[in-house]
Amino acid sequence: MILTVTLNPAVDKTYRTGELLCGRVNRMRCVTNIPGGKGINVSRMLSQYGYEVAATGFLGGFPGKWIETRLQKAGIRSEFIEIDGETRSSMNIVADNGFVTEILEPGPHISEAQLGAFLERFGRLVQDCRMVVLSGSAAPGIPEDIYARLIETAAQAGKETILDTSGELLRKGIRACPTIIKPNRKELEYLIGHRLRDREDLKEAAGVIRKNGVPLVAVSLGAKGLMLAGRSGCLYAKTPQVKAENTVGCGDSVVAALVMQRIAGAGEEEMIRHAAALSAANATTFENGDIPLSLEEELYQDIVVERL
Ligand SMILES: Nc1ncnc2c1ncn2[C@@H]1O[C@H](COP(=O)(O)OP(=O)(O)OP(=O)(O)O)[C@@H](O)[C@H]1O
Ligand SMILES: [Mg+2]
Repeated sequence: MILTVTLNPAVDKTYRTGELLCGRVNRMRCVTNIPGGKGINVSRMLSQYGYEVAATGFLGGFPGKWIETRLQKAGIRSEFIEIDGETRSSMNIVADNGFVTEILEPGPHISEAQLGAFLERFGRLVQDCRMVVLSGSAAPGIPEDIYARLIETAAQAGKETILDTSGELLRKGIRACPTIIKPNRKELEYLIGHRLRDREDLKEAAGVIRKNGVPLVAVSLGAKGLMLAGRSGCLYAKTPQVKAENTVGCGDSVVAALVMQRIAGAGEEEMIRHAAALSAANATTFENGDIPLSLEEELYQDIVVERL
């Protein structure tokens, strides 16, 4: 079993419209709703590949119940703590001119008691899992060192962790030395404290993080590719040419691929190739959900990995 943590899940609503106009009435052409939040996205991808997944975090109200039902239908074990507040919605508005506007709610407040219940459940679930995925932002009320605490608990149980978050949650989280982190360029710049202009800068920054105790640092560079710094040096994979429809969730597919390869005992080159292939395949779908797995296999063959 793989354990995923989503501290601020959402009903992800994707709208399509002609043009989005500020200060006007905007009628949407269509909408699709899926369970969202980064940890949940990773869960869906792992489950698509046949992995057993348990998802935990906080859910509340009718949207919470809806997410739980959808996860169970997808074969994902729901281990969320029920809260009094209502799980948020996130809106993605995709206009015909290619602009994507995201509207993100802060999410419900988490009380001390609910946090305590979650920590207790996490401590129990972590015993029976192969690896822990910690992804995304935290709802209001959750302390900034939450990921550090969860990583320490996992390490005490002898479990590996992958952390994909931003800002202070990431900065404090890496102090507990997760096994893998997956910042994008902006997130890595925040950690390092200055701009990273070229691949040389990125390589050096990843090296600094590794020296501080994180064994594997994957840096995602959007359409520009993916970097992986580990024991065997610093590898770079260019993104394959695909017709990108919607790149939301590409970071989550990198995380899912890294987890699957790590569990399979793959080497770093294989890890980066699969991660680049899966995330590019994810970019070709409009809906952030089902990845065309046959396309991943096709793309995997053509990915060239360079050593930096
Ligand atoms: N247009 C694209 N074509 C092909 N592959 C892409 C494209 N955009 C992103 N990718 C792949 O997805 C990976 C992750 O994307 P990105 O760096 O945008 O993640 P992110 O910033 O964490 O995004 P998010 O958190 O919204 O999922 C990239 O490293 C790359 O391998
Ligand atoms: Mg990301």
